[in-house]
Amino acid sequence: MQNIEKRMNELIDIINKASYEYYALDNPTISDQEYDDYYNELLRIERDHPELKREDSPTVRVGGEALDSFVKVTHETPMLSFDDIFNEDEVIAFDERIRKTVASPSYTLEPKMDGLSGSLIYKNGVLVRAATRGDGVTGEDITQNVKTIRSVPLKLTKPIDIEVRGEIYMSKDSFNKLNYEREKNGEKPFANPRNAAAGSVRQLDSKVTANRGLDYMAYFIPNPSAYGIEFQSDSLLFLKELGFKTNYKYNKVANNYKEILDYIEDLGKKRESLPFPIDGVVLKVNSLKDEEKLGATARVPRWGIAYKFPALEVLTTLKDIKFTVGRTGKITPNAIFSPVHVDGSLISRATLHNEAYCIEKDIRIGDVIEVHKAGDVIPEVGEVKKERRTTDLKPFKMITECPICSTKLIKKEGEADYYCPNQNCPSRKIEGLIHYAERDAMNIEGLGDSIVSDLFNFDFVKKIEDIYTLQSHREELIELEGYGEKSINNLLSAIEKSKDNSLERLIFALGIKHVGKKTAKILAKKYKNLDTLKEASLEELSMIPDVGSIIAKSVYDYFRNPNNISLIEDLRKFGVNFNYLGKDEIESEFFTGKTFVLTGALNLYTRDDAKNIIENYGGKTSESVSKKTSAVIVGANPGSKYEKAKKLNIPILTEEEFKEQVDKMNNLQNS
Ligand code: IVH
Repeated sequence: MQNIEKRMNELIDIINKASYEYYALDNPTISDQEYDDYYNELLRIERDHPELKREDSPTVRVGGEALDSFVKVTHETPMLSFDDIFNEDEVIAFDERIRKTVASPSYTLEPKMDGLSGSLIYKNGVLVRAATRGDGVTGEDITQNVKTIRSVPLKLTKPIDIEVRGEIYMSKDSFNKLNYEREKNGEKPFANPRNAAAGSVRQLDSKVTANRGLDYMAYFIPNPSAYGIEFQSDSLLFLKELGFKTNYKYNKVANNYKEILDYIEDLGKKRESLPFPIDGVVLKVNSLKDEEKLGATARVPRWGIAYKFPALEVLTTLKDIKFTVGRTGKITPNAIFSPVHVDGSLISRATLHNEAYCIEKDIRIGDVIEVHKAGDVIPEVGEVKKERRTTDLKPFKMITECPICSTKLIKKEGEADYYCPNQNCPSRKIEGLIHYAERDAMNIEGLGDSIVSDLFNFDFVKKIEDIYTLQSHREELIELEGYGEKSINNLLSAIEKSKDNSLERLIFALGIKHVGKKTAKILAKKYKNLDTLKEASLEELSMIPDVGSIIAKSVYDYFRNPNNISLIEDLRKFGVNFNYLGKDEIESEFFTGKTFVLTGALNLYTRDDAKNIIENYGGKTSESVSKKTSAVIVGANPGSKYEKAKKLNIPILTEEEFKEQVDKMNNLQNS
């Protein structure tokens, strides 16, 4: 027995060493066959002597029993993350800021791995717990899953107690393989390696995780001084010695901002050819003594920062141009291309607006095109790579009939768009229903594109008023494939709730031509009630500031159409509120519709928080200052954006002033 145990321990050591050389160092010393032989021998011993099986045996990497849920764990030291910066100015500002506290700093520069951070706790050299970052204070216990990651040592080379932090990520190879398999099996591919890693690590069944080819790169020890480490760069070496995969090969120490910028440029060039996904460079003050001096704010350490690379140019091939019919009958050409990853999402279509736009771009099916996200959200076709045309491609040609109901399209003098004039075109109806339920309209959660199409095709909802009759079809709806009791109940209560919306939402939701959110608000505020608006004369409507004669005519005509009058009467019967409740007043306050630029180091918020706040209150953020910028929010040591704002006479807000506005909004919203 003793001999068997001895052999088992020997095998574990051999296999661990081989894994380390293979996975962490990328430098195998034994063949796959030898490895398999050792592994199978170990499996046999463990099967015949289960009482001897060690918890840190490499055979646990195949995964274990599935869990019901993840247990929450509290991090002993909070898992902070760095503020993000995006350009050279901000790098220089960071260096300047550090120099105010540290006379001649040096920095460790490392690739910013694009996955999710994971904390590993070792006791006596054995992995006992792995956790996600969660909100930084509380994460989830993912020990079982992390044990399946080959580059995570189950046992360290030294029998010490230590917490190690690093990135759980998916190599580009594993990602491509995984997506290939998923598409083959009719499953939705992951948008990017980060999502794939996150999705794989949060599997309740660790056997699934084991097959996803996850990886782990260690980069941080929360209490390095306990191990006699004085420099961040030595942490990496220490982690490597312990048996971790680290990015020491790509790590560099810099002594000034020029060296930082050179490294960023250099790594940016290598980015695409690296085997792992990165999205920037992490800068850390190298001396731990200096780090201590610099300390941290409530959320972010002051001794480091994350520089994010700009989005990559993404090229794809235009497969088709498909025409869709909007709720007003407007025909839109759309680019359909081979799916590509842009800024974290998988996209395969983008609007081409109208005929003139397509002709101007001279876009042709078969072209190589560049795609990006406009304003960081809407997919857009950029350059058409005409020089890459190899064969004759047919020039764009506008259609003449509605693609859904075949009615001849019309185009009014001086307008860019074609319309399907058929009021009963099914496509228009579906779009109108989707619009009615949209977040900015009646905000009926659960009534999105696909369920609206289903309800329409199954004859449950043919027109807006039918939405409010769904309650009486509850039993039948539950039987519809793909929904179920819970989602139908939620949908029905969201529909019920929508009856209490304030008038501006209803006006917008009706889908009156030319009446956007802003006009709906103006009309609601002025008329206070749908019936009063309905009776308004054309002259009166035309006189309203910000409502031109075209909008006025459209509103006037809408209320003269018998179908619309019947809709309004039905809505009244169903108890839909017609009054202006003034609740959304807050939206028109400080942030709505304005564009803000952030510069310098913020203390009270992280960049991401500040951006989210602005967006939540209806504003936008931008990376550069221009005449269109509404205000610049300035933190400590602002860069050139601050100078530019002064030059252009753009209002400047300190972080405290920004906070005052945020507090005001919060108070308003809670009142
Ligand atoms: S050190 C205090 N080093 O990027 C944070 N982080 O904000 C110490 N990341 O969420 C983290 N690569 O998950 C560090 N080489 C690297 C990194 C890295 C990626 C992640 C980390 C964190 C964010 C930085």
